[in-house]
Amino acid sequence: MIGRIIKLEKHSDADGSLVVVEKNKEKIGFDIKRVYYIYNTKQLFVRGKHAHKQLKQILICVHGSCKIHLDNGRGETEEVSLSTPDIGLIIESNVWREMYDFSYDCVLLVLASMEYDEKDYIRDYASFKKYVSSLQKGV
Ligand code: TYD
Repeated sequence: MIGRIIKLEKHSDADGSLVVVEKNKEKIGFDIKRVYYIYNTKQLFVRGKHAHKQLKQILICVHGSCKIHLDNGRGETEEVSLSTPDIGLIIESNVWREMYDFSYDCVLLVLASMEYDEKDYIRDYASFKKYVSSLQKGV
């Protein structure tokens, strides 16, 4: 597995539901420093297309559905479908991600381990592969 799926604690009764994300309970492994969300995405648009050198994230599809393509740069890929608000997908650093197949009502919540820093992004796939291979060689 490249990404880690976590089942979030859900409190439901006849009147509705509440979902909790708590670092220690879910063994998230990093502090959450920033939260943002993606919505109104055109169905055929592919978001992401980048990796992060340091940043780690949890993706939660709080409404609607979308799919995530993950690639560890070492020959392994994975497709994950998110369509329920009590499931989170943890993406570690150095993973290429593409988000696609957004439902018209999709709201994708992202909990991130760092503040926004464009220098942490690798936006070119060939550079990503090179970067991962340099990490493996310890260069
Ligand atoms: P980007 O991370 O490329 O979005 P995605 O991977 O979902 O396609 O960000 C899109 C734009 O928003 C880009 O110009 C950077 C900007 N941005 C911020 O200014 N702050 C942020 O916290 C994020 C996530 C993006």
